[in-house]
Amino acid sequence: MKGTKTLILGASGTVGSHVMKLYHESGEYARAAFHKEEVPDQAYDDFVLIDYDEVDGLLEAADGFNQVFVVIPDSPSMAMHARHIVQACEASGVCHYVVISGAGVELSPHNVVSQRLQAMETLFENSNMNGIILRPVFFMQNFINHFPPTPECKIIQPMGSGKVNYIDVRDVALASYQVLIQLSQGEKFEKNVWCITGDKSYTVDDIVDIFSAKHQSAYEYIDADLEQVIQKMKSKGLPQWRVQMLSEIYQSIQQNHYDHHTSDLMRLINRDPRTFCDFALDYKSFFINNYQLNH
Ligand SMILES: NC(=O)c1ccc[n+]([C@@H]2O[C@H](COP(=O)([O-])OP(=O)(O)OC[C@H]3O[C@@H](n4cnc5c(N)ncnc54)[C@H](OP(=O)(O)O)[C@@H]3O)[C@@H](O)[C@H]2O)c1
Repeated sequence: MKGTKTLILGASGTVGSHVMKLYHESGEYARAAFHKEEVPDQAYDDFVLIDYDEVDGLLEAADGFNQVFVVIPDSPSMAMHARHIVQACEASGVCHYVVISGAGVELSPHNVVSQRLQAMETLFENSNMNGIILRPVFFMQNFINHFPPTPECKIIQPMGSGKVNYIDVRDVALASYQVLIQLSQGEKFEKNVWCITGDKSYTVDDIVDIFSAKHQSAYEYIDADLEQVIQKMKSKGLPQWRVQMLSEIYQSIQQNHYDHHTSDLMRLINRDPRTFCDFALDYKSFFINNYQLNH
């Protein structure tokens, strides 16, 4: 809506960069906020550098804004970061938020990461702002950002035969964008928390079959031993909180906690979710380059 000023926190990240792209393509104004000093490849008309550790920068970034999109990376500081964001937004008169949480809050509530996300959600729910919390399942783009196949097309993960529902980050961004636009138009939503999922759940064997078919290469799943993966993470110097977080997530995957489907995404974006086949095809060049660069 004309006059609405939207601040996108985490604008250089996996979800935030796609939200910014949607604003850019539609010609709607949004200010990008991120942390690192180097400006990302994507063009931003208006951007600010902030640190969730500091309230002052957040206050400056949010001054005069009505809406905020929030992504807070997992870390033990998540609740403190959420508190700083809520404090700055309330003081600046922001009235609407869209917050990216995670499906784990309801699917594996005892995991540490879920408890951190829950604490973040509560801070926004108890604020004087109105908004929507999106709880996405696993991102398909994790197969690019976090555990890409090896150059030999092997996916080495301790996921057993667990079924996981994956969502394309572009759909998470579209849902966020649509909600922000509708909130700015005064629309009311039937509920505040939406668990958004992709089309269906997949085992890693299913994903290997999809990649093999779409990239014309022979992919292979190596079902790694979780204990060995944990030892490897520790020997690489990963902080203990991260090792614990990943280890709990892998156990939840093996126990099929993330085999879950809702129609929430469809209700927000008015179309079916992108499928894993769509993702494998759209990002084919990344996977082919990954293979070719290393041969
Ligand atoms: N991966 C999944 O499968 C999955 C599934 C469901 C939910 N989630 C949730 O999604 C969130 C992560 O989203 P994402 O993948 O888009 O994150 P991401 O790619 O790691 O991006 C994080 C963004 O936050 C900014 N940032 C980091 N530290 C900051 C700080 N101290 N102050 C200000 N800005 C800071 C980063 O800026 P710089 O780039 O400048 O550092 C970047 O723009 C997490 O809360 C996670 O629990 C993830």
